[in-house]
Amino acid sequence: GKKYIIAPSILSADFARLGEEVENVLRAGADVIHFDVMDNHYAPNLTVGPLVCRALRDHGITAPIDVHLMVSPVDALIDEFVKAGASHISFHPEATIHVDRSLQLIRDGGCRAGLVFNPATSLDAARYVMDKLDIMLLMSVNPGYSGQKFIPSVLNKAREARRMIDDAGVDCRLMIDGGVTVDNIRDVADAGVDMMVSGSAIFRAPRTVESYKETIDRMRA
Ligand code: DX5
Ligand code: ZN
Repeated sequence: GKKYIIAPSILSADFARLGEEVENVLRAGADVIHFDVMDNHYAPNLTVGPLVCRALRDHGITAPIDVHLMVSPVDALIDEFVKAGASHISFHPEATIHVDRSLQLIRDGGCRAGLVFNPATSLDAARYVMDKLDIMLLMSVNPGYSGQKFIPSVLNKAREARRMIDDAGVDCRLMIDGGVTVDNIRDVADAGVDMMVSGSAIFRAPRTVESYKETIDRMRA
């Protein structure tokens, strides 16, 4: 696979033209579509669910869809997103009672499984399930909204997560989500991250393929 994966977050897309926005950002060179699911319970916002994921698939989107669950409880929605055509499903360990079971549900559904860590959450929940993780996702903002400022202390945490993955010798992506821009993406990569989510830095005016491509190209560079 590719060394670095760029995953635009549709949270900053124009939801009234979602199919077109997703097509455009893929044409602009995005590798994966990051799909933020919030429930106004675990996270202070309400976004989209399996129905919208299914609609993107039925619209002809074949790129991987990376579902970021900011919901509690998680297990019922794992099943729904497996059926809706998700490729990766990640959840926050404190949002489910049986972390190992939820991870297993994702892999049993044929998807890649991830754990997500908020800025203040320790990486301990990953320790005994390293062999069951395809993605470790570090939040560099608090869940809820696009356009927040990157929290720099997550860079040291990323180095720690990179060591955990390398020590375990597993095939696991280290992903970061929140406030990633053209200006800080090099620091993020230097900390060992190989999958970058970006919402507001990519999806902004003018909402054209050319503009999305310019940002994605600069991020890759
Ligand atoms: C925050 C979401 C992020 C967000 C990223 O709760 O999980 O995926 O959309 O947006 P930016 O890149 O604008 O911080
Ligand atoms: Zn996200």
